[in-house]
Amino acid sequence: MKYIWLAGILMLTAITNYSSGATVAVLGTGRVGAALGVQFAQQGYQVVYGSRDPGRPAVAALVAKTGYGASAATPDAAVTKASIVVIALPWKATEAMVKSLDLAGRIVIDPTNALTIGPSGLMEMAVETSAGELIQSWAPKAKVVKAFNTLGFHVMANPALAGGPVTSPLAGDDADAKRQVGEIVRAMGIETVDVGPIRNARALEAMAVLYMVPYLTGNREEAFEYYLRKGAAPKQSEGVRPAQ
Ligand SMILES: NC(=O)c1ccc[n+]([C@@H]2O[C@H](COP(=O)([O-])OP(=O)(O)OC[C@H]3O[C@@H](n4cnc5c(N)ncnc54)[C@H](OP(=O)(O)O)[C@@H]3O)[C@@H](O)[C@H]2O)c1
Repeated sequence: MKYIWLAGILMLTAITNYSSGATVAVLGTGRVGAALGVQFAQQGYQVVYGSRDPGRPAVAALVAKTGYGASAATPDAAVTKASIVVIALPWKATEAMVKSLDLAGRIVIDPTNALTIGPSGLMEMAVETSAGELIQSWAPKAKVVKAFNTLGFHVMANPALAGGPVTSPLAGDDADAKRQVGEIVRAMGIETVDVGPIRNARALEAMAVLYMVPYLTGNREEAFEYYLRKGAAPKQSEGVRPAQ
């Protein structure tokens, strides 16, 4: 019965999004862009992929796979009508792209990780702050919400592949944008936890450093997906404070 209700709510959300004509620009047609583009389309959003080469066959194939009226365009054309923009780009391409676009007033979902391979052969932060904070500073009038960066792209495409619940923590300075992104993420079947302002993107991107260790060490049996078990706080706690 619970699942019938859930399916009904998801269907209603999809119809509402589609009829409201809400457009999502997904910048980048790689693994994350493809996973999230399909997910957005299934929620009834009008998806426009922003690609460096929107006419190439691989992009046409992704558009066809996405369905629901999806299309592809150059990045600046893609964002024109979009109320939501997803930055599914390599970190090295992100600054130039963000600075070239008019993102004012739009919700910008940021799944990027500002990482580089360090001397140990493992990932480490490529910046002193985080991709999320820098994107917000490059587009100060955008409402940046850090999301998805701690999940594998295969789980974004199909959360059931994780074999259990998974969580996308959300960080951002605009409470309403974070609430809207939370609704979208949960409709994909991914739990959310509000972890505060965009400044905390630096902690979320550090989680991505740890996520990559099993893959980069060939220790795949240690590979994991993040699940944060909410509701675990003591019912009464008066002593929660930093150590003195
Ligand atoms: N892969 C994961 O599991 C995962 C998980 C969490 C977060 N992330 C983060 O999500 C972001 C996207 O990752 P991804 O795995 O989707 O990357 P990807 O598969 O390499 O795809 C990146 C896409 O960005 C576009 N692009 C624009 N400018 C580019 C440039 N100068 N060089 C290369 N590509 C460019 C390309 O699409 P067009 O050719 O159509 O322009 C490309 O397909 C990254 O910041 C990554 O750290 C990835």
